[in-house]
Amino acid sequence: TEKYEEDETEKGPNYEQKRWEEDHVGAAIMRFGAKDAKEKAREKKSVKDYDVIMDEEIEFIQALQMPGTRKDEPDLSESEMKKLTIEETQKSLPIYPFKEDLIAAMEEHQVLIIEGETGSGKTTQIPQYLTQAGYTRGEKKIGCTQPRRVAAMSVAARVSEEMGYKLGNEVGYSIRFEDCTSERTIIKYMTDGMLLREFLSEPDLGGYSVMIIDEAHERTLHTDVLFGLVKDIARFRPDLKLLISSATLDAEKFSEFFDDAPIFRIPGRRYPVDIYYTKAPEADYLDAAVVSVLQIHVTQPTGDILVFMTGQEEIETSNEMLQERTRKLGSKIKELIILPIYANLPSDMQAKIFEPTPPGARKVILATNIAETSLTIDGIKYVIDPGFCKQNSYNARTGMESLVVTPISKNSRNESLVVTPISKASANQRAGRAGRVSAGKCFRLYTAWAYKNELEDNTIPEIQRTNLGNVVLLLKSLGINDLIHFDFMDPPPHETLVLALEQLYALGALNNRGELTKLGRRMAEFPVDPMMSKMILASEQYQCAKEILSITAMLSVNNSIFYRPKDKVVHADTARQNFFRPGGDHLTLLNIYEQWEETDYSTQWCFENFIQHRSMKRARDVRDQLEGLLERVEIEVTSKPGDTIALRKAITAGFFYHTARLSKGGNYRTVKHQQTVMVHPNSSLFEDRPRWLIYHELVFTTKEFMRQVIEIENSWLLEVAPHYYKSKELEDGSGKKMPKNTGKTREDVTRNY
Ligand code: CDP
Ligand code: MG
Repeated sequence: TEKYEEDETEKGPNYEQKRWEEDHVGAAIMRFGAKDAKEKAREKKSVKDYDVIMDEEIEFIQALQMPGTRKDEPDLSESEMKKLTIEETQKSLPIYPFKEDLIAAMEEHQVLIIEGETGSGKTTQIPQYLTQAGYTRGEKKIGCTQPRRVAAMSVAARVSEEMGYKLGNEVGYSIRFEDCTSERTIIKYMTDGMLLREFLSEPDLGGYSVMIIDEAHERTLHTDVLFGLVKDIARFRPDLKLLISSATLDAEKFSEFFDDAPIFRIPGRRYPVDIYYTKAPEADYLDAAVVSVLQIHVTQPTGDILVFMTGQEEIETSNEMLQERTRKLGSKIKELIILPIYANLPSDMQAKIFEPTPPGARKVILATNIAETSLTIDGIKYVIDPGFCKQNSYNARTGMESLVVTPISKNSRNESLVVTPISKASANQRAGRAGRVSAGKCFRLYTAWAYKNELEDNTIPEIQRTNLGNVVLLLKSLGINDLIHFDFMDPPPHETLVLALEQLYALGALNNRGELTKLGRRMAEFPVDPMMSKMILASEQYQCAKEILSITAMLSVNNSIFYRPKDKVVHADTARQNFFRPGGDHLTLLNIYEQWEETDYSTQWCFENFIQHRSMKRARDVRDQLEGLLERVEIEVTSKPGDTIALRKAITAGFFYHTARLSKGGNYRTVKHQQTVMVHPNSSLFEDRPRWLIYHELVFTTKEFMRQVIEIENSWLLEVAPHYYKSKELEDGSGKKMPKNTGKTREDVTRNY
């Protein structure tokens, strides 16, 4: 209110600084400069650089006298901490007063854009309101897409709890390789990628009365493609209601795209968040984040902390660092509950972040971008934002993910992810997480200057920086031939589209007129990368589907199969090497799977062999799913035990793009782009150095490494990819003549676009 604001102003611009100074004992190193978010909101020009005292070193905290029992900042009383009942929570949400208005607006309009702050109740409440309003009568479902599978799962769990159902019955979710729905399901949460696949079996989405495209502002590749598709079907299905729901200010853009659909705004309830910047750039943001967590913990009043990390590895590292440092501090500090959250975390662990913090303790949540808008965690008062996220980077010119000197990893579509600075929009979303329950603080581990001058305003939509192979194949299967004129909100770069078409042509999924082939149609059935689905389908010809399924499943979890405890490194490495098979790493993976199968999927066996049982279980699930899909495309699960040539040919049929040759200088070079690459030291072929290799993926650490490689013969390349390789490219200097290539050229395939 007015009064409150005035009071705040009376405290003067140096109020925060003074309070911080009072809050800290002794001399400490200056680290943060602060900027009052409220001032910014009032558009005052002067950016006052507050000096906030923060300490670099843990010794400082140790020197504090029992900081956990400071008297000036009493803990919240029991009643304030009390967990609200489900009904109380529902009624307290910002969306609640607008329930009737929202239902009325839906009655009136076919397409509605909904805009509301994260945590206002859009995702969890709207499907329930619509159920109450009768939208699930007549065996119709309400669908709601989520860009992230963790969000789909956790939101479905929450809503089924709120409605008093068992998860998977009336309320369920569907994510890749996991369908947790039933005949009875009326509210279905799913990843945007899964809805895209549903179009294949139900092109008019006939089973749905309402489709909610949620988190639209995230602009993921799949969400962007969905925009075009749902807009199209809304035209011939006037009974289908469409809701486009977004957390930020893109509402006008969505409205424009959907023929000026009305915007329904849910007024936010946000408390002020003070923003602090570091005075100088942080050399090591992970360490800075960890130190900041501890500083907040010992100096700040009750309230949980949310830290944004770029991925699982960072979360695990900082988790360890925090565990170690809090252990050292022992009873000198209050209890700090450290909770990670990322996509691959098992769901029972994920659920933990929603449990209320016990009185006297403090929760710190180490999260990926998922906590930016997809998940709302109550009780957060402090946000630490290092200012980075992981994004895919794709170079349309070469069709390779671009090479950057930062650690990279892979997303679910096996694309390289690069650590990049976030956008201003993201930074502000992150800060907003601190102001949901009361006034909060956001600590940005970058300078105010960097925020102003180095961060882009908005994140570039994924469709403009990613490989489109999968999506193009899917759209072609839906009968959408003219992709250049597809109704994209922001079209992808022309070269990326052409490259995807070329790649699909080389794989045999498209003919030289750019039309889907029978092979392409079958490939589209598989929710995996086109190269992978080609490999699976090629196993029919080479009669080794059984083995290829196991290899595919193992590759899909391949980064987490081996367990390597620090105190048993030698044992673990020996165990791993004992699985090696001649021919390469795919065969090693197959060997592991088959041995595990023989033990009847034993946990003990995994333990003894330093294999992660959880990953193996996941591989088994994936394999079961793939086997079901194989039946659907009517491929018999045949087996050729011991025929590694058949297996390696099937792999080559999918991954011939990934060929490397040993050059005269003793280095490996990729055949198409002449890029220097090395065999990963963990590979069974690290010492063998065969002349021709196929790699599954490239990872960049200190050098560009090929991970998961097999040995092949160059003649196989002409056998499996006559469209792609010319015999001249494949001469290996041994004097052996290669057979002539009679395939079509690249120009043939792109001419028609
Ligand atoms: O979608 P939106 O960001 O508008 O909000 P929501 O996800 O529907 O969340 C509304 C409220 O539901 C949150 O503030 C939480 O109190 C609660 N919630 C929860 O307790 N557990 C979840 N997994 C999701 C939401
Ligand atoms: Mg939401």
